[in-house]
Amino acid sequence: MNSREHWGSRFGFIMAAAGSAVGLGNIWRFPYTTGQNGGGAFLLIYLGIILAFGISLVVAEMLVGRSAQRNPVGAFKLLGGRAWPLVGYLGVLTGFVILSFYIVVAGWTLAYIVHMAQGALDTTDSAALTDLFGDFVADPVQPIVYAGGFMLITGIVVVGGINAGIERANKVLMPALFALLLILVVRSVTLPGATDGLIFYLKPNWSAVTADTFFAAISQAFFSLSIGMGTMLTYGSYLSARENLPSAALTIGLIDSAVAILSGLMVIPAVFAAGLSPSAGPGLTFITLPAVFAAMPFGNFFGVLFFSLLAIAALTSAVSILEPLVAYFVDEHGLSRRVVVVAASAVCFLLGIPASLSFGVMSDVTVFGKNWFDLVDFLSNSVLLPTGGLFTALFVGWFWAKPALRALSNGGELSQAWAGAWLFILRFVAPIAIAWILISALKG
Ligand code: PFF
Repeated sequence: MNSREHWGSRFGFIMAAAGSAVGLGNIWRFPYTTGQNGGGAFLLIYLGIILAFGISLVVAEMLVGRSAQRNPVGAFKLLGGRAWPLVGYLGVLTGFVILSFYIVVAGWTLAYIVHMAQGALDTTDSAALTDLFGDFVADPVQPIVYAGGFMLITGIVVVGGINAGIERANKVLMPALFALLLILVVRSVTLPGATDGLIFYLKPNWSAVTADTFFAAISQAFFSLSIGMGTMLTYGSYLSARENLPSAALTIGLIDSAVAILSGLMVIPAVFAAGLSPSAGPGLTFITLPAVFAAMPFGNFFGVLFFSLLAIAALTSAVSILEPLVAYFVDEHGLSRRVVVVAASAVCFLLGIPASLSFGVMSDVTVFGKNWFDLVDFLSNSVLLPTGGLFTALFVGWFWAKPALRALSNGGELSQAWAGAWLFILRFVAPIAIAWILISALKG
């Protein structure tokens, strides 16, 4: 284990972990989910969940990884034994599932950079844009090629390893992402007519809040913070014992929430300014936004910036979904990183094909009333990640609590009171909230 690579700097680690958290979940999923769930009220509930237990779960995962210096399966084997490694295996499985549909949407963002640059989306007619998007995603070949290209880029970063691959890429891409985001937010909120969007986004509309709002907020929180499948655990395993985890987790949670909020600020006022509806759902990014860009000066330019931003965010997250799988096969089966990356990428790509075809020839093939894409999306966000998070909370809160508190206070990281609060969250708050969401998910 001595040969295990470690992050080169605290900054590199924070950028990598924040890069994992900030992704399609923030820029593509968060604004339309907020638009569909009452704007500001959803935002407040979401932030409450991040603070109430999201950040504590990030600390728990990182602590397990840092203490074990292993992948999710190896870590639960070492620290828990008995049936606990199943939690790690579940994480590895979840990684394959998430990456298979993540690369499909990420591939769309690559395609839209090209389409924008070509001026192919230069129309304010939303019916035409709906058709353009529908025809593109329904094509049996093109989106699959883009998904494959995206998988390839992800694999190239991960083959490079922790320092030369993941850390190096994140140290460049994350600051670039912040810069692009700020440019686009300023552009959006200064558009004529943006104020109505700001009001909708920031003023809580409590009458739109139902149990479903909480359900949506919790699923969003898991996906966005990358918790429940061992990503944060694996990234934590490349840390030395001295890293202050609560402060790192808080920083990552703040960056993730800030980017989600700013993405809403970038998307929603622009949508109002263009006289469109914020509740357009998943198409908001690919259908509504091109209409917004077409209506503004230098729209193609801003459009290319926007889809580049989305592609960068997707890449730093996809890398973090692949790494736990790779770490597992490298640590536990002694395979070479290169071989595992090639094989795992090939499997994810093959699983991505039916996900992509769900928008075309396979749209009628449904299981439990959902097509393949919707099924894997639902399974991962609403079932697999919460299940992984539930068992991680139970493991750290009940089974491994004493060593956890010792490991956490190694460097005097938390006062007694905060450590007590953290344990209380892992023992009661998180399990109860997650159990509730799982039951609602399974009831349909
Ligand atoms: N957090 C990423 C996003 O918001 O897009 C997605 C993700 C990454 C989920 C890593 C799960 C994960 F383990």
